[in-house]
Amino acid sequence: MMNNTRRPRRNRKSAAIRHMVSETQLTVNDFIYPLFLIEGENTKEEVVSMPGIFRYTLDLLLEEIREAMDLGIMTFCVFPSLPESKKDKMATESTNEDGLYLVALKTIKEKFPEVCIMTDVAMDPYSSDGHDGIVENGEILNDETLEVLAKMAVAQAKMGADVIGPSDMMDGRVGYIREALDQAGYTNVSIMSYTAKYASAFYGPFRDALDSAPKFGDKKTYQMDPANATEALLEAELDYMEGADMLMVKPALAYMDIIRLLKDNFNIPITAYNVSGEYAMIKAAAEKGWLDGEKSMMEMLLSIKRAGADAILTYFAKDAARILKR
Ligand code: PBG
Repeated sequence: MMNNTRRPRRNRKSAAIRHMVSETQLTVNDFIYPLFLIEGENTKEEVVSMPGIFRYTLDLLLEEIREAMDLGIMTFCVFPSLPESKKDKMATESTNEDGLYLVALKTIKEKFPEVCIMTDVAMDPYSSDGHDGIVENGEILNDETLEVLAKMAVAQAKMGADVIGPSDMMDGRVGYIREALDQAGYTNVSIMSYTAKYASAFYGPFRDALDSAPKFGDKKTYQMDPANATEALLEAELDYMEGADMLMVKPALAYMDIIRLLKDNFNIPITAYNVSGEYAMIKAAAEKGWLDGEKSMMEMLLSIKRAGADAILTYFAKDAARILKR
């Protein structure tokens, strides 16, 4: 016989005790559901590398939002997928008030005023170069891009966006956007900054979904090096000082330490983006019968929350909400 007075297993001996001492609870309020929007009507196309995730025309996107709301999901992040013909070097289409994205934001907000709509601010969906900023001689221009991003943000706010999500990683963009929003009278519109956004291979399926892969090179001169953690603190400090209301870490799964680091060092909500590649990995393994898809999904989401995320952008939002409802 061991003579231990401390036996941690005593707190695991029944479901009742395990629930009583459980430190982390995942709820449907934690989820932000990313959605892909395409032109046209009455069409939804499944993203090949993301089974169960579709690109919707606006009419069907509204139905998808309704369905998600019935499961208790109240925050949505919409990404547009544009035909090449609408793309140019300056992402002009991003401020077209009759264009796909801005009309969609307005329509969603009119139809469902109670939901929280988060946007994406970056040039890549509208850029013929497929980069998040203006490209000149193979370089991504920082300060010139800020003006484009600020105009995009103000146009989105005008359509009723609740939260602006700059995902571009240009230096100084949070402050620049904050000032533009305030000057235009949108002092109440929030900014959830993609603060620690890494140059990651896990975005692959998303770029398939939006046809937004860079036409040349990679995004390493603006997105962060996966080797760096201290630099995430610098990015967070800048975004905080520049007025971000929430700080995001992206991707989530391979960056749990960064989520915890920001959670421990900042007094505003920390969010995490459970990105397309993280979704695809679980779906693919589950399809092959190599993983229990539901259990690994729930464990992944719970762990992201335990790491310190106050909210999680996840393509699993509906699947997980259904399980939480049971
Ligand atoms: C682009 C953007 C990306 C994602 C969100 N916004 C991809 C990229 O930076 O190339 C990725 C999301 C995902 O993989 O789920 N501004």
